[in-house]
Amino acid sequence: MDVVRIFDTTLRDGEQSPGFSMKTEEKIRMARQLAKLGVDTIEAGFPISSRGDLEAVQAVAREVRDVPIAALARAKKLDIDAAVEALKLAAASRLHIFLATSDLHLQVKLNMTREQALEAIGSMIRYGRQQVAEVEFSAEDAGRTDIDYLCQVCKTAIDAGATILNLPDTVGYAVPEEYGEMFRRVREFLGDAQGVTLSAHCHDDLGLAVANSLAAIRAGVRQIECTINGIGERAGNASLEEIAVALAVRKESFGVTTNIKLEHLFPASRMLTEITGAQVAPNKAVVGANAFAHEAGIHQDGIIKNPSTYEIISPETVGVPSRSLVMGKHSGRNALRVSLRDLGFEATDAELAEIYRRVTALADESKSVRPRDILGIAHEVIRRGASTVPAEASSAA
Ligand code: KIV
Ligand code: ZN
Repeated sequence: MDVVRIFDTTLRDGEQSPGFSMKTEEKIRMARQLAKLGVDTIEAGFPISSRGDLEAVQAVAREVRDVPIAALARAKKLDIDAAVEALKLAAASRLHIFLATSDLHLQVKLNMTREQALEAIGSMIRYGRQQVAEVEFSAEDAGRTDIDYLCQVCKTAIDAGATILNLPDTVGYAVPEEYGEMFRRVREFLGDAQGVTLSAHCHDDLGLAVANSLAAIRAGVRQIECTINGIGERAGNASLEEIAVALAVRKESFGVTTNIKLEHLFPASRMLTEITGAQVAPNKAVVGANAFAHEAGIHQDGIIKNPSTYEIISPETVGVPSRSLVMGKHSGRNALRVSLRDLGFEATDAELAEIYRRVTALADESKSVRPRDILGIAHEVIRRGASTVPAEASSAA
């Protein structure tokens, strides 16, 4: 099976969004966790942006030896020099050069003609290649770049020595069919470009970053750029955990694999929320607090009988410490019995009925009942003796 390489940009694209900046020590901690997770490249920062970022990339490169470290640079000598300096201590490094290629960006932002951009791409990649063996080129706003011009851009970058070509949907505008088609056209144009890897980098402005990344894989892309928890500019980048799990769960459909060790996904997500203080939405796929919580009685009953009734991934697979069965007002008696067993209680039928009555009453008042609430009620009922309490609770299972 082909391997799709995971290029993690949590510490660069993720970190540059408001509220997600990290100190050097935090970047190192996160980078170690990313290495444990099995990512293929860690983009550690944008060294020209500040002295602090340059030093942070240096520190990550010095401390994390088992994963190649990438640093970002615009197609400018000063940027490339800063990135090269930051990567000097890396065991393996990648210089990531980018230049916008859509007419909109060329005219409005860069005041450059298409020809001037091609010249800058060629000369700056050659300059970078004199200092770093592996150069990736990103055609910023590729998703809105004229396809024939984009093909010329790719050829220029390869001829100058880039071996990874990243075609980002910088503004999250693409839809899956279009984004996949863009890669098909570029592949057709390049023919058999030996030793060149195509890469996708998607933003989530329309909530399509993961879908677009998966469409790119179907079109032959073998590197995906993504971030833990999907953090990144504006609405964020494609979420690493969602892509890795989608490719694992639907392996037969995609026919590719990754080097991600899924059991480290949840710890990586939690480490990031702990470092940044930014929680993920409870209903976030794979790592949200509710991703494996089953409240409806019918669902809980199914899960108890066979988890595959309502779960396509087990919480253990992605490193969630234990199944979190949330008790709420729709929960059934059977689920309560299992929760009580998890908490160490064997209740008689009468005790169970009374605990159930109290738990559902509590669930009516608050939205859900935590294990510690059940524990308190169970203690009280069982200590007091169920025979002295009414057992009128009804089953919602
Ligand atoms: O979104 C984007 O285009 C980028 C590039 C710099 C790779 O982040
Ligand atoms: Zn980006």
